[in-house]
Parts: sequence; structure tokens; C-alpha cells
Amino acid sequence: MRYPLPMKLFVYHTPELTPENTLPNCAIAVDVLRATSTMVTALAAGAEAVQVFSDLDQLLQVSEAWAPEKRIRAGERGGGKVEGFDFGNSPLDCTPDRVAGCRLFISTTNGTRALTRVQQAETVLAGALINRDAVVQHLLTHHPDSVWIVGSGWEGSFSLEDTVCAGAIAHRLMEKLGCGLEELAGNDEVTDAISLYQHWHDRLLDLFHHASHGKRLLRLNCLDDLKYCAQTDILDVLPIQKETGVLIKA
Ligand code: MLT
Repeated sequence: MRYPLPMKLFVYHTPELTPENTLPNCAIAVDVLRATSTMVTALAAGAEAVQVFSDLDQLLQVSEAWAPEKRIRAGERGGGKVEGFDFGNSPLDCTPDRVAGCRLFISTTNGTRALTRVQQAETVLAGALINRDAVVQHLLTHHPDSVWIVGSGWEGSFSLEDTVCAGAIAHRLMEKLGCGLEELAGNDEVTDAISLYQHWHDRLLDLFHHASHGKRLLRLNCLDDLKYCAQTDILDVLPIQKETGVLIKA
């Protein structure tokens, strides 16, 4: 099937690199290691919603209104769990017995910043490698005119894992649309991301071992998280923003 174009896709390596005073029809925040992988996993495991915060104090204050058995507070800084919180930011903690029926209140170093940057866009999604196909399917169904994929990076810097995920989404989208790069790509970063993905697509875990945040997580004994987040298309779950800062399963 040939889908109507134009859909213009833009990739930004970090929230700081997105243009000011404009937003796309659809924004996809990506933090493969590990915030968006955790959000996808929590919703797949039956969490009622995920609510994101840049600020830890605000998270504590807002979540106070929820019954303790219906809320999980997840706080991560520098890759580690914030003291006093229920979870850090490991997707592997998000098992049905822990999260089903609960709201996950989450604040992480970079991932929640990417979501905050685009939260006024018409449609806001959370993407990761584990739900890449669900993201692509949404784009094919809704066909927004302009799409941004916004990597979280690390404190303002490029990250390999978010860019390779942007490339995975763009690559699959191009295949399904049956179009060429020149038709889809809105900026040079799209070509860059697709090239990275094409080079590493069958060695994503190896790539994570080269990534600075991958190395940080390995120092924190999180190899299992890396292995989990390096898988592609394992969950058919798409977090979509239903009100500012609150994502539910689409
Ligand atoms: C972040 O938001 O920077 C990450 O998700 C950090 C992490 O791996 O916990």
C-alpha cells in the first residue's frame, strides 16, 4: 500500500536542540536507557498511567493525593535510585504484581525533560526500541504532517542509544511508506540516525556497551536492563499523552 505523503520527519538528538516557538503535530520522546523503556513496560504490565515530572519535590507533592497502594514513586538521578522512592528507573521492576492498577509517578535525569519539552504538541508519544513497531503503526494510521523524534541524550549531549532508536523508527517508517529519504527526512539528523541503525541493528547490545550512559549503567550493575532495552519490537504498547504529563496506553 502506498501512503499519502508528505509526512515530514525530524530527529533531534536532545531536547535542547529542538527549534523554539514551534511544535510538530506529533512528538515522540525517546529515552531508550531507560525512561521510555520503563514507561512502556509499566503500561504493558497494567499500570493505569504514567505521570512524569522534572522535579522530584513536585512528584512527591502531587502523588501524595493518591492512595499509597495505588501509587508507585520512581525517582532516578545519575542512573541510581533516589532515596525514599519505591523504584529507581529499571524497567525490570515493572512487573504486573508490582504495578498493575497503579499510577507510576516518575522523574528521571533526562527522559522526563524530553517529554516536558514537547508536552504541548498535539500528540505526544513515548518511544523505545521495545515498542518501535507500535510507534510506527501509530504514524501510519494517523499520518501526522510533521513528526519530531526527540532523544533525551545525557544532560544536553548526544546519546547513541536514543539516536539508534530514532533511526530504527525512521527506517521502518520509510519501508512501510515505500518512500525515499528525500521524501521523508526533514533534517540531516534523520539520515544520520538511519545510518547508525543500519550499521548496528543486529548488534544493539554491543552498541550500548560503547554508549557513555550504557557504560554508566554497567558500572551500576545494570547489564540486565541493557539487555532488555536492546530488544526490538517486543511490546505492542504505545504510551500516549492524555493530559499534560500523563501518559496512558493508546
Ligand atoms: C534518564 O532519564 O536520564 C535515564 O532514563 C537515566 C536512567 O538510565 O535511569
